[in-house]
Amino acid sequence: MNFEKNILCIGAGYVGGPTMAIIAYKCPQYRVTVVDMNSERIAEWNSDDLPVYEPGLDKIVKTVRGRNLFFNTEIEQGIKEAEIIFVSVNTPTKTFGAGAGLAADLQYWEKTARQICQCAQSPKIIVEKSTLPVRTALAMERILTSNDNGIRFDVLSNPEFLAEGTAINDLENPDRVLIGSRQTESGLKARDELVEIYANWVPIERIITSDTWSSELSKLAANAFLAQRISSINSISALCEKTDANITDVANAVGTDSRVGNRFLNVSVGFGGSCFEKDILNLVYLCQNYALHEVADYWASVVKINEYQKNRFVLNMITAMFNTLVGKKICLFGFAFKANTGDTRESPAIFIAKRLIEEKAELVVTDPKALKNARIDLNGIDSNVSYMEDPYEAAVGCHAIAILTEWDLYRNLEFEKIYRSMIKPAFIFDGRNILDHKKLFQIGFNVFPIGKPALTHF
Ligand SMILES: NC(=O)c1ccc[n+]([C@@H]2O[C@H](COP(=O)([O-])OP(=O)(O)OC[C@H]3O[C@@H](n4cnc5c(N)ncnc54)[C@H](O)[C@@H]3O)[C@@H](O)[C@H]2O)c1
Repeated sequence: MNFEKNILCIGAGYVGGPTMAIIAYKCPQYRVTVVDMNSERIAEWNSDDLPVYEPGLDKIVKTVRGRNLFFNTEIEQGIKEAEIIFVSVNTPTKTFGAGAGLAADLQYWEKTARQICQCAQSPKIIVEKSTLPVRTALAMERILTSNDNGIRFDVLSNPEFLAEGTAINDLENPDRVLIGSRQTESGLKARDELVEIYANWVPIERIITSDTWSSELSKLAANAFLAQRISSINSISALCEKTDANITDVANAVGTDSRVGNRFLNVSVGFGGSCFEKDILNLVYLCQNYALHEVADYWASVVKINEYQKNRFVLNMITAMFNTLVGKKICLFGFAFKANTGDTRESPAIFIAKRLIEEKAELVVTDPKALKNARIDLNGIDSNVSYMEDPYEAAVGCHAIAILTEWDLYRNLEFEKIYRSMIKPAFIFDGRNILDHKKLFQIGFNVFPIGKPALTHF
């Protein structure tokens, strides 16, 4: 079959895989290939057990794989054949050298740019899908034009706004698609080609365009604003606990103001995920670089409050359980950084598990999708950790349960049965405020929500 366009995506991760699956699904007239240097990951994408869990993803991949969606490791071949190349490689926080702990590590990104430069034999549009520091497209352009072979490259910024756990819905019905380009004739032409792809299913008024730098910066700013909301409500939860105010009522009263809005005001044990912290730190680094120290400090405090919230949760557990956790068995309900994903990158559960292990507690971890990653995260320090799929079995013989992920499954458990199987006094620390605290208290639990008075039998 002759396809209208050949699209390539470099990087078959949480973004590259689902994003390309949706493009292939919505646009049968395009051939979409996803490549990665990690052959195991590619093999998983070609198997029945996909490397990414997202509600609805399996069905879509099964429909389009082999039709117009292909996964392989032939990066050079893919570059040669494609007219449009999405780059969706990882851009983690740098762990070494200048900017360590703050700046984005651009080694994977640069490697890709050089590979494109070496292999390309015809003009191409390069689309930045990864989240990058503002002005990275300029570096990409410089690398691509360093090989004076006369090939034209247009670099666009098209940051991805999907949220893990709701990726398929976010991709099918995005609030907006953002495309940044140079405001030159060829930049605008390249932009229009990308607009044409999205216009296959996204209403045109939701496809917004800007210059390249604004687009790059918008992604960092959007994540910083989202994380800031979480840190804001979490900071108020600490004050609620000291004053017997109730965070649910406060969030409701604040959020019903239409200027504020009621979404993303859920109190929690802290935010996680591979993006929020990394992107804010990247923003902080950029501000520091431009000597905007007050701005840098402002955004750094969002991460600081997040650290504080995670630490506070552990300290509350220790205090509530008579100031010692030595030898106590604690069950973690949930390890994923949020519900409906198996992703545990930067999950607050990792921090909490490590702290509880330091306190010499014994842990049982349960999670419907994230146990494989949990084992990897705690590898080497988990001699006193066990992993169990079934939450009822996991809680048997435990002194306490800590709810760390807001899986729906945990809302509807038979807590009477769980209570009967636990050591008394039995504790529940609800790090997501998803349970019926009064009911748990009536069953006999000592209940410690976030941002509300504890319900104890002492
Ligand atoms: N995960 C999210 O929710 C999310 C949302 C929006 C944006 N982003 C951004 O998208 C980017 C990708 O994130 P992710 O979560 O998909 O990362 P990921 O780690 O899941 O996937 C990245 C993939 O790129 C591959 N890769 C790296 N260098 C390569 C190279 N030179 N050639 C071929 N393959 C290479 C890796 O092997 C890996 O499989 C990041 O910049 C991230 O900030 C992520």
